[in-house]
Formats: sequence, C-alpha cells, structure tokens
Amino acid sequence: MSKITAAITAIGGYVPETRLTNFDLEKLVDTNDEWITSRTGIKERRILTEPGKGTSDMAVEAVNEMLRKRGMDANEIDLLIMATITGDLVFPSCANIVCDKIGAKNAWSFDLAAACSGFLFALETGARFIETGRYKKVVVCGFDKMSAIIDYTDRNTCIIFGDGGGAVLLEPNTEGYGVLDSILKTDGSGREYLHQKAGGSLKPPTHETIDAREHYVYQEGKTVFKFATTNMADVSTQIMERNNLTSDDVTYLLAHQANKRIIDYTAEKMQLPPEKVLMNIQRYGNTTSGTIPLLFWDYEKLFRKGDNLILATFGGGFTWGSIYLKWAYNS
Ligand code: COA
Repeated sequence: MSKITAAITAIGGYVPETRLTNFDLEKLVDTNDEWITSRTGIKERRILTEPGKGTSDMAVEAVNEMLRKRGMDANEIDLLIMATITGDLVFPSCANIVCDKIGAKNAWSFDLAAACSGFLFALETGARFIETGRYKKVVVCGFDKMSAIIDYTDRNTCIIFGDGGGAVLLEPNTEGYGVLDSILKTDGSGREYLHQKAGGSLKPPTHETIDAREHYVYQEGKTVFKFATTNMADVSTQIMERNNLTSDDVTYLLAHQANKRIIDYTAEKMQLPPEKVLMNIQRYGNTTSGTIPLLFWDYEKLFRKGDNLILATFGGGFTWGSIYLKWAYNS
C-alpha cells in the first residue's frame, strides 16, 4: 500500500470587523504610524470587540466556512485540534466548545498551546493522526483573541498583536501530497522573555496581580527579535537542505507574521525573491496561533497542485519550527 500523507483539502478563516489602526494606537500610547510601519510592517489589526464573544466564536465561523467549501457535515469530523493560548475559559478546552457549537458529535478534540508556533505544532500532530490510517478527517485550527491579554497602555506589545485565525481540513493522500517533513523545537529557558506573569498555577489571580497588570503579555522585544530571526531562518534553510529543495523549487514561504523584518531575514537566508514570500502582517498584525492559517486563507487562490510550500514560525516558549508541505489541489 502507498504511504499515507496528510493533505490540506479545505480552508476557512475569520477576522473580526473592527480595525485598530496605527493612528488609533497613536491616541492610546506614545507611538506613531511611521515608527510602527518601519519597525514591524503592521498598519492595522482586527479586534473582537463584541461582548460575550471569545476565541471559539471566531473558530466556529472559519470551520463552518471550511465545511461548506468541502461540502461536508460537522458529524464527519473525527478529530479537531485547536491551537490557542486564549481559549474561552481556562478549562475546558476551546476545541471542545467549538465542536459543541458546530455540532460535531462524532469528534474528539483538544487544545494545543505553543504560542505563535501553535498552528505548526497542531498541523504536525494532526498529520500524524491521519498517517495512522485510522483518522480520515482532522480539523486543525489556529486562533487567538490576543486583545484579551494585551495591555493597551504598553507600547512595546499593543502595537503588535491582533485577533483572528483559520482552520484547515486534513485528509489522507496516497499520491505524495501534504505534510512531507517537519522540524519543530522548544526551549523553555526562553520563557523569561515572553510570557504572561499571572493567571496560571504559579501565580493565580489576586487583586495584587491585577493591580500590577500581570495578566497581560510581557515581552522583551529586542531579545525575542534576536532569537526569532536566527532560529526561524535556521530551521527553514535546514528543511530545504534535507529535502534537496533549492530556492527555485520553493513556490512560497508562509512565515509567522510577527515582524516583517524577521520574515525578510528568513527569506534572505532561503534566497527567496519577495514574490515568493506571502505577507498579510500589514492588515492583521500578529494573531499568534492565527497567522499561518490566515495566510492559507488569504492566498488559497494562488496555490496550484504540486506547489512546494515552506511554513516557518517562532514564538513564546520559546517554540519554533518549519514544515514542508506539497499543495494538493488547484483552488
Ligand atoms: N513606538 C515608538 N517608539 C517605541 C515603541 C513604539 N511602539 N516601542 C518602543 N519604542 C522605542 C523604545 O523605547 C526605544 O527607544 P530608546 O532607544 O529611546 O530606548 C526605541 O523605540 C527602540 O526600541 P526597541 O525595543 O529596541 O525596538 P525594536 O527595533 O527592537 O522594535 C519590536 C521593537 C517589539 C517591534 C521588536 O523588538 C520585535 O518585533 N520583537 C519581536 C517581536 C515578536 O516577534 N514577538 C512575538 C514573537 S512570536
């Protein structure tokens, strides 16, 4: 029997309506459009402002779109994996809530937390389930409502993050399409540079933690930037080398959208021209687990069967990695 690989066969995405532009941020903190644009490439982000709406509500929109496109019923889903660090509740898993809301009665589901690398870690996990031959339809979501944990008085972080994400369907393929290779890494010693100080078991919420604004993202930007550039470029060039891919063979790079300068550095090391580097950071900012599925969603029409896609990421943890994927259909 031919080897089973996990191919992406449908995509859905969602970003909230409300735009938070650089000019809006100028009114909140001491910053300006020129600084944000030149340092990060971001012009605006989307923010989920409706009361009573959480990460699951964004994911439901995307998964339903994906199911419609594939002509599939939610009850056909075997497994749903949700990459997120901003689930609706501390527990249960956001994935469980999404399955309930879409009516996926035959699926089991769980969350996977790997900050900005969440989607790649979840994609690799989902692909492994497909490769067993036992799972036929696995949904991999990457979503974050970062506005729930961003301090809009901190100019180091509030300029970067936004809300949104996407969902992909994985199905078995025996013709050599889909997820073909991955290099995934973690280094927990990097946690001191990017984390949320309170709210976990180490420091449960108290009046003091709230007064000290410890329930927001804390980031030492310069250090994160340094690790992100070298590590993302390293794994992306490694995955090319070990699959004998030259820059001519790579059709597109889909890199985590944290900072345009980090993506440009990775592309330069891979020797890719700008037209092979997909970007939407200017419109959405860094949506954490959401950036790479949002690239799939935005650029789906561009992809042709057989395209060689390199996915690359770096994020809190530290976590980072790269996936080599051969696209399975003409959109
Ligand atoms: N507006 C205007 N000035 C700002 C600013 C803002 N929003 N944020 C910082 N500055 C100032 C700093 O105070 C500093 O001023 P000083 O030189 O007088 O001290 C100056 O700009 C440079 O700050 P620095 O932090 O060195 O900027 P930077 O070039 O490193 O850019 C980040 C900051 C956050 C954009 C950048 O470090 C970054 O993108 N880091 C990685 C982020 C990331 O990828 N995070 C997610 C991981 S997935």
